[in-house]
Amino acid sequence: MLKNGTHRITLRPVQTELTAPAGTALRDLLFAQGVEFPCGGQGRCRGCRVHVLEGATAINDAQRERLTADELAQGWRLACQCALEDDLVIELRQWDAAILVDETPFAFTPRPGLGVAVDVGTTTLVAQLLDLSTGRVQAVRTALNAQARFGADVMSRVQFGVPSAGAQQLGDMIRRQIGSLIEQLVFSAHIAESEIVDVVLVGNTVMHHLFCGLDVEPLSRYPFESEHLGLQSLDAADLGWKLSPRARVRFLPCLGGFVGSDILAGILATNLGEREDLNGLVDLGTNGEIVMGNRQRLLCASTAAGPAFEGARISMGMRASTGTISEVKVEDRTVHCRVLGNVPPQGLCGSGLVDAVAAGLELGRIQSSGRFNNGAASWELAAPVILTQSDIRELQLAKGAIAAGIRMLLARLGARPENLKKLYLAGAFGNYINRASAQRIGLINFPAEKVEAAGNTALLGAKLALFCPEGEDGSFLQLRQRTEHVALNADQGFQDTFVEEMAFPETGTGC
Ligand code: FES
Repeated sequence: MLKNGTHRITLRPVQTELTAPAGTALRDLLFAQGVEFPCGGQGRCRGCRVHVLEGATAINDAQRERLTADELAQGWRLACQCALEDDLVIELRQWDAAILVDETPFAFTPRPGLGVAVDVGTTTLVAQLLDLSTGRVQAVRTALNAQARFGADVMSRVQFGVPSAGAQQLGDMIRRQIGSLIEQLVFSAHIAESEIVDVVLVGNTVMHHLFCGLDVEPLSRYPFESEHLGLQSLDAADLGWKLSPRARVRFLPCLGGFVGSDILAGILATNLGEREDLNGLVDLGTNGEIVMGNRQRLLCASTAAGPAFEGARISMGMRASTGTISEVKVEDRTVHCRVLGNVPPQGLCGSGLVDAVAAGLELGRIQSSGRFNNGAASWELAAPVILTQSDIRELQLAKGAIAAGIRMLLARLGARPENLKKLYLAGAFGNYINRASAQRIGLINFPAEKVEAAGNTALLGAKLALFCPEGEDGSFLQLRQRTEHVALNADQGFQDTFVEEMAFPETGTGC
């Protein structure tokens, strides 16, 4: 143990060292490092298995149920079930060669050299270095997107970027930052830059345009469409990156105005376009992006959900970090809050907000209209953190937009909710959201067993694109042509559906 009751954690094979207070959930630490928790940390899927090489972690019932006695004796643990109680050396086997898509190893053709996959998120950046001959991850680097100082959401970046000097500044910033992440990958994996032969980047349409130096002005006004959604092949030297001139750098193409290449990557990662059954993929963010369909037909859309899922415009909202209430549960009619980092509560993140409102509905504190009972103005969850009437309103706007978008796409496909086999939730929020709470508030109107956290599908799709035969000409043209973009705003029925979906269900239901 280090000073002040903190522990050191060493991650292999990436050789990252972290420190955190005793009692911190391993899930909170590892998620920030790009580790995925496929069942959302419920202890049900084994997807978060780690090999503890040094140090002790307690074994609970969920681990006894999911891991064999041999595995436990060898030091295998479910990271989502462990809290930090010792210095640890952990091997992250999730990043071994098997690149998984729906439990099926992805049949990649090994190639010589190294590749880099980058998820260019509005808030966070994740870059992984892969050995293309084995598919194994050699190093990972994550960072907060430096552009965030010019606005938390994509629309504020667009506004800053409409004058070309602003776009230039944002573009330079993100290109420099990703170049630096690649340098760090090279340094930590002890390789030469010349060994990197391929870089694939994915992101939403605004990130795509800013990174590639494309005009974002068309994205600032109705109908929010750009003519430059296609694949962008770039020259490493032009980007200021110290890679070999032979290295291929591609920002994958977008699918529509606000449906970016992160969603195209998500289709690759979930294999949505190759299946007979009807499945959906939803990325819950300021701009909710939705894809639904099967091998016959794919529809995609984006819907302005507002920033509630990211904890923004919430009176005590904050990003998921130390001091955030990330889970709220009701037991014996008493509210229990889980706080990240084992410290006193300071605020509420998106998943905590969804739980809190679900708890309020269950306890009868919140009506289906969204109003507090007895005209209360706020509800203290865990001092000093409160939930206010306007917080509930923000969540209603966000969940109404997503639920309406899903309903509209299903209707266009001529399908009913019960026809849907699985709904995959992409990204960090999808990983942490409690599915029962999402169902209780009417965000996801499907039974919990049909809803699956899919992890960082954007990054997984970018990795697959490094090997993907369809992308060999660089364009993913067939997939783009097959995916119809639906402009929900232009649909007369959308506003009515949105208003209907803003109300909370009287009781938890699902089809
Ligand atoms: S068992 Fe830990 S994420 Fe599923």
